[in-house]
Amino acid sequence: MKYKTNPVFPKNFFWGASSAAWQVEGATLEGGRTQAIIDLNSQTKKPFTDNSIAADHYHHYKEDVALMKECGFTSYRFSFSWSRIIPQKGVINPEGIAFYNNLIDELVGAGITPIVTLYHYDMPCWVDELYGGWHNRAIIDEFDFYCRTCFENFGDRVKYWLSINEQNMQIVYGDWLGVSKGCTDWFKEKWDINHIMNLCHAKAVIACHEMVEGGKIGPVPGYVPIYPKSCKPEDQIAAMNAEELTQKIWDDLYYFGEYNGFVKSYWREHDITPDIREGDMELIKQAKIDFFAINCYRSDVGMAPDNTYLQEIGLNKYGRKGEFVYTNIPGEYALDRNKYVETTDWDWHIDGTCMRYTMRYMWDHYHLPMVITEAGFGAHEDLDENGEIHDDYRIDYLRDYIYNLGLAISDGVEVMGFNPWSFTDLLSTGNGMAKRYGLVFVNTTDDELRDLKRYKKDSFYWYQKLIKSNGQEWGKDMSDWKDFNRTSEIASDLKAKGVKD
Ligand code: BG6
Repeated sequence: MKYKTNPVFPKNFFWGASSAAWQVEGATLEGGRTQAIIDLNSQTKKPFTDNSIAADHYHHYKEDVALMKECGFTSYRFSFSWSRIIPQKGVINPEGIAFYNNLIDELVGAGITPIVTLYHYDMPCWVDELYGGWHNRAIIDEFDFYCRTCFENFGDRVKYWLSINEQNMQIVYGDWLGVSKGCTDWFKEKWDINHIMNLCHAKAVIACHEMVEGGKIGPVPGYVPIYPKSCKPEDQIAAMNAEELTQKIWDDLYYFGEYNGFVKSYWREHDITPDIREGDMELIKQAKIDFFAINCYRSDVGMAPDNTYLQEIGLNKYGRKGEFVYTNIPGEYALDRNKYVETTDWDWHIDGTCMRYTMRYMWDHYHLPMVITEAGFGAHEDLDENGEIHDDYRIDYLRDYIYNLGLAISDGVEVMGFNPWSFTDLLSTGNGMAKRYGLVFVNTTDDELRDLKRYKKDSFYWYQKLIKSNGQEWGKDMSDWKDFNRTSEIASDLKAKGVKD
């Protein structure tokens, strides 16, 4: 497949990057913030550092925004920390409001549009102590109060809002992201928690439309397209099952305001009866989203499962290639390694085409505009002897993903912007600073607290040029882009090495 012309990105396309409060801010007990469950959780993930300092963005935000401006950003996607804004039940923290006001003003002053996530995994401890977090419907009013406080204080300058980050992943990876805490039967209880999250999402959407003039709001699904392993009909259905159980159930709910037939039948088969009360579905239906924010890092491969055993997903926790354990769910699907693409040290498939696939898939199903809020390359990195980071692998990754995003736009999909993960290095969900994603290196490690100085990586300079040319200067001749065909090269390479289908 060759393309004679490069894709054209719309004028006013949002070029930026992404972060989340608990992963970047640090200062967990400063400025009136109280602890979040994820702070405690991150303390247990040794040998990786916790989030008490992270990238220390709380103290470096002016410098960070200046760097964004230097890179040419027109958007920045970040999250608010609930416990920085509401540190105790019913209490609004003026210092927390001031911090985010300053950050927003700094961004707006630099010509950067803020795109704000209301919830990115950081449940305040007080909500957990009072109600057991997501387990209790009392959280719905607390979340509503928090969201309304945000809209009231920041809605004059923030017009793009995101409700809950990767609700689907929080349910699929309950242990990893801490949502299953306190559950005795996660398999069933997750659907109650999920329903409560849906109600919180719905309340946020309704309140945003009510309170923010010209405000737009959408959910943030984590999207991992599932390709069938072969054209065996069973593999196709298994891939579709995987797609339903890891993402489509959620997307359908957000868009149609209803649980789809697949999940209802799944519940029936597994004797699951989520606590759905009178009025709930009306509320959910009333919450009309304006767009989808999409996180898309990788793809997966689905195939018919072996019905004799259950294998839960085993995430690669230390960045040693080959440690990822693929899921096998009897009666539903199994996942597998895709030998046509390469992987990161954490066994994540590197596959720019999955960006185009995701955009096409979501557009075909929902016809809503989209903004990319995450995509990125996690790597072990440190400064070389010249104090530099030559992250060619990240440039290749970003080029591939952005190019494919451009192709999706050429295919007719409406895309508002691209915000890769992440701007500066920050904490990964489970690997501290050992898994870095930034365009800007932050000088600290898991075992040594250094000066936290910022260093621009090669990817920063590459992205700066791409932004300046509104997605035309790729640093490579894209009209004869051999890399675009690399999947077939890898396949023939594997064949030459004797690897069988
Ligand atoms: C996304 C999350 O799913 O993936 C981020 O929204 C996360 O919070 C990112 O950091 C990368 O995952 P990880 O595990 O490598 O940090």
